[in-house]
Amino acid sequence: MSEQLAFPGRFVPHATNMPQPPNAPALPNRVSRRSMITQLLYTSASRHPRGHSSDFEILQDALSHNRVQGVTGYLLRDIGGFCQVLEGPAEIVEPLFARISGDPRHSDVVLRMRRQVPERGFLGWSMGYASLSPEDSAFLATCFAEGAGGILLAFERIGRVASGQD
Ligand SMILES: Cc1cc2nc3c(=O)[nH]c(=O)nc-3n(C[C@H](O)[C@H](O)[C@H](O)COP(=O)(O)O)c2cc1C
Repeated sequence: MSEQLAFPGRFVPHATNMPQPPNAPALPNRVSRRSMITQLLYTSASRHPRGHSSDFEILQDALSHNRVQGVTGYLLRDIGGFCQVLEGPAEIVEPLFARISGDPRHSDVVLRMRRQVPERGFLGWSMGYASLSPEDSAFLATCFAEGAGGILLAFERIGRVASGQD
């Protein structure tokens, strides 16, 4: 696993109106300055083709664990791999990311963004999931090639995919 970027950023406000899944625990969205939410965004290469049963199993893992742990986020799948946003308390999200990084169902995990934010961007999603169009996939690849400014653009695009605006 390599780490490319770690920088502070602003909260992306678009995703706070998302529907709550049934039986979701109440998650604190606003937090005090001392208990900021950690947000990570990484990409990876999948070991299996899109649509393989392992995608379903990964999502099941994510939904069941994250609901209990108070983690929210979004998992995007394209033809070659994953792009995932994880958010929650640092003491939960950091070990989760370490576990995910060692998962044999993917490789080449690259951390693109780590930041502290006062609010969740994906409140209501224990783990949302979408299959990326080739256009969105190409757009995100361009963003990741651009560095810090590009990551924020990528983050906004992911938010739009998540909220069904794209
Ligand atoms: C692309 C990808 C995304 C994943 N996302 C999550 C996630 O959001 N939450 C989670 O608990 N596990 C996720 N997993 C699964 C973890 O790697 C791990 O298998 C799971 O947390 C169970 O760990 P354990 O067997 O040590 O309890 C993901 C795995 C992959 C490959």
